[in-house]
Amino acid sequence: MINPFYLDLTDREISDIQEKLGEILHGGNLILAKYTDEFEHEFAGYVGSKYAVSLNSCTSALEVLLTIKGAKDRRVAVPTNTNFASVAAILRAGGTPVYMDMTIDYFVPNLDILKFTVEKHPDVAGVLWVHIGGIIPPDFEKVVEFCRQKHLFLIEDCAHAHGSELNGIKAGNFADGGAFSFFPTKVMTTTEGGMITTNSEKVASRVKSFRNQGKRGGNYGGLHYDLGNSWRMSEIEAYMGLVQLVKLDEMIVVRRQAVDVLMPFLKESKIDFCEISHMGRASLYKFIIRIENEVTVGELKEKFKSRGVVLGGSVYEVPCHMQPVFKDVRFDPEDVKVATELCPKHICPPITSGTTSEDVRQIATAIGECIR
Ligand SMILES: Cc1ncc(COP(=O)(O)O)c(C=O)c1O
Repeated sequence: MINPFYLDLTDREISDIQEKLGEILHGGNLILAKYTDEFEHEFAGYVGSKYAVSLNSCTSALEVLLTIKGAKDRRVAVPTNTNFASVAAILRAGGTPVYMDMTIDYFVPNLDILKFTVEKHPDVAGVLWVHIGGIIPPDFEKVVEFCRQKHLFLIEDCAHAHGSELNGIKAGNFADGGAFSFFPTKVMTTTEGGMITTNSEKVASRVKSFRNQGKRGGNYGGLHYDLGNSWRMSEIEAYMGLVQLVKLDEMIVVRRQAVDVLMPFLKESKIDFCEISHMGRASLYKFIIRIENEVTVGELKEKFKSRGVVLGGSVYEVPCHMQPVFKDVRFDPEDVKVATELCPKHICPPITSGTTSEDVRQIATAIGECIR
């Protein structure tokens, strides 16, 4: 059975992590010590940002960034096609989400959609952009420019986009801050974990305060200045992050090799998918294949399974404007109609950094038999 989850750690890497866990436990510095510093330093270097600050999750990273950027009592534009966490973070930061639709080509918004949203809601204060599946749309630099001109903050939700790159710039380094996730299914993992990347020293030091109960300046004494939380990453998670980061590029190459086999096959079979060839590199967290026939994703999942292929979670089958938890977030159905129609009509094949060429053949055969 080909599965969508693959933990990319060799036996040697696992032994190394176990040994390090012993060292950390004996040393007694379980949090905010040398491996956290090292992971942050290496991650910033990888993304190209001046600073990186680790947290316990991407959800808290988003909430902290939104709080620091002043989302409270203001409207924040966000794609409706995203994970619960993006919209929840806006609400928790005290803001009001304003949904943006997506394009059929990339399943993310584009400059026109953002402009339309800002014209319709002139009081929008900022944007929480989401690089769905790791896709950065071709006009994203124009989105950045537009936000600058309009004095809108722009935060990147990079939960899917480790290593994604457009015109030489990596996800998380385009604007006011990026938030990454290291949840187990992500392109790289620390079991649980998150990271903020930023070029602002002020933002970085406030994030450090927010993740540590509002204690500023590395002072772990009695004074709390910000209404932060206990959102730290542990030393062993940070060490695991270092092990994963070293091989992130290689892991993405394996994903890409699989997709390079699938793309010509899909084109030949006239099956649509979200393009990634405009990007310097795509993380390929998800490879999005659109389905046009009348079958439901549930039916397709069963068909694939009977052929030994377990389809991964999609991005996303139910957009946020249709999620029960967000029923109080107001929207005009006309403004989210592409997402309403197309979100339920896509699948993501189980491509991971463990996918073999035999797996790709089996996945392609299943696609040919189930989708056409
Ligand atoms: C787009 C997006 N943003 C944020 C998150 C939240 O990440 P975490 O689980 O690390 O809090 C996720 C998680 O799946 C996600 O897909």
